[in-house]
Amino acid sequence: MTLRKTADLRRADSPKRPASDRIDSRIFSVGDSGKTRKEPLNEPQARRQTIDEPKTAEKPAPQEGAEPPDKPTSVVVLYNQVGEDWYEKLQQVDLSTLPFEPEYPVHVPTVREEYSEVARALRRAGYRARAVNLENDLRRLERVLKRNRPDVIFNLVEFFHDDAGLEAAVAGMYDVYRIAYTGAPPFALSLCQDKGLTKRVLQDHGVPTPRFKVFYEPKLPKRLGLRYPVIVKPVWEDASAGVTKDSVLYDSERLAERVEHVYQEYGAIIVEEFIVGRELHVSVWGNDQPEVLPPVEFDFSELPPDYPPIISYSAKWNPLSEIYHKVHTICPAPLPKRLLNKVEKVAIRAYQATECRDYARVDIRLKGNEPYVLEVNPNPDLTEGVSFMDSAERAGYSFSAALARIVEFAARRRPAPKPAGEQPEGRRPGEDLMLFPKIETPPADAKTGPPAETEPPA
Ligand SMILES: Nc1ncnc2c1ncn2[C@@H]1O[C@H](COP(=O)(O)OP(=O)(O)OP(=O)(O)O)[C@@H](O)[C@H]1O
Ligand SMILES: [Mg+2]
Repeated sequence: MTLRKTADLRRADSPKRPASDRIDSRIFSVGDSGKTRKEPLNEPQARRQTIDEPKTAEKPAPQEGAEPPDKPTSVVVLYNQVGEDWYEKLQQVDLSTLPFEPEYPVHVPTVREEYSEVARALRRAGYRARAVNLENDLRRLERVLKRNRPDVIFNLVEFFHDDAGLEAAVAGMYDVYRIAYTGAPPFALSLCQDKGLTKRVLQDHGVPTPRFKVFYEPKLPKRLGLRYPVIVKPVWEDASAGVTKDSVLYDSERLAERVEHVYQEYGAIIVEEFIVGRELHVSVWGNDQPEVLPPVEFDFSELPPDYPPIISYSAKWNPLSEIYHKVHTICPAPLPKRLLNKVEKVAIRAYQATECRDYARVDIRLKGNEPYVLEVNPNPDLTEGVSFMDSAERAGYSFSAALARIVEFAARRRPAPKPAGEQPEGRRPGEDLMLFPKIETPPADAKTGPPAETEPPA
């Protein structure tokens, strides 16, 4: 989720600008199922440490590889937010009621404000850009494709019907309808949602990752075959869901309890050797020759002594928790050149092994001078000043320029226009498509009976 500072704070040159990543821009909300999901609040706001080196001048959005047929001019920023936005509620919180002094803003922009900000920044970069909320309705995508079809969709959809597994399906729709979109293809989005499978792929590509075991039932073997301490995480969640103060275990008895507990809530578990060491979030972008942006390092030194040095769910999302205000970030991470080179190589290999595209964030821990990849985020948070965008800014790209560069990557995948004569005159590609026709639900009293998914009347 986002680090949601106010737009004004974003512009302020404050030494306390959050620099951490929103880690993942999951928007948990009261979904259409009506049940409240765990509501990630905010990402740890980060304290930007004073860095001696001057900021580099802003770079224009550079081109990569061959020139696209023509410069893209229109972009739709697509996201999917349904139901209540927890951040709106957060704005009502009376700060004087907090039992601690918050280090970072507690009142943060809403989801809608955040995505509008992306569209606004793209307009500053010269695009015709607007933000569209899918609201779980594919006919909204249809409208985007048929009327004023943009050159590129900026894909910020992470859920559909409250299901993160459908993130890949929505990207698949763009492919089906041949519209260029930013970011990872469906395969990478699906792969990286399975932590175990991702790690197997990383291992196959020689990318170091902590040793691990996956359990599909809460039964552990007598000999675990891993070295303690270990960390227990749900296999199919991200955004630190299920990662708490109690996730790091030092003995088999506690481990069994924790596995049972996490299994009951999330299903399959990954138990991983815990890497005691520095944590880096390494942003990568580009396709033919991916580039690594200056890494962000997490500073856990202000956490209470009994709190493990991890980015727990509370540290990441809950500005109402003191822990949230105790995890800071430093960008660029102070790394000796040789170690930085090693980190960069590992990050690029992880990015390529998981078939990421355009941009992604690779989460890494250092064991001494050895980088270990924890996971790959193919659809990371792009909030201004946070995470990916913090790193981009350090590399000299303004928010607008970085977004524009991502659009340029995607624009290269625009399908070639149909040869003259094949395209009905005066029509833009896609206008002749019959997409997502409205499906009428048969009435319950029709001869065929009620639709299968309808409950029979009591
Ligand atoms: N093997 C490990 N060793 C040390 N710390 C770990 C390990 N695995 C996870 N962590 C800690 O737990 C945090 C969350 O883990 P991870 O990144 O794997 O999960 P996630 O839910 O996908 O998070 P997100 O998508 O928000 O980055 C990490 O940022 C790190 O602080
Ligand atoms: Mg992570």
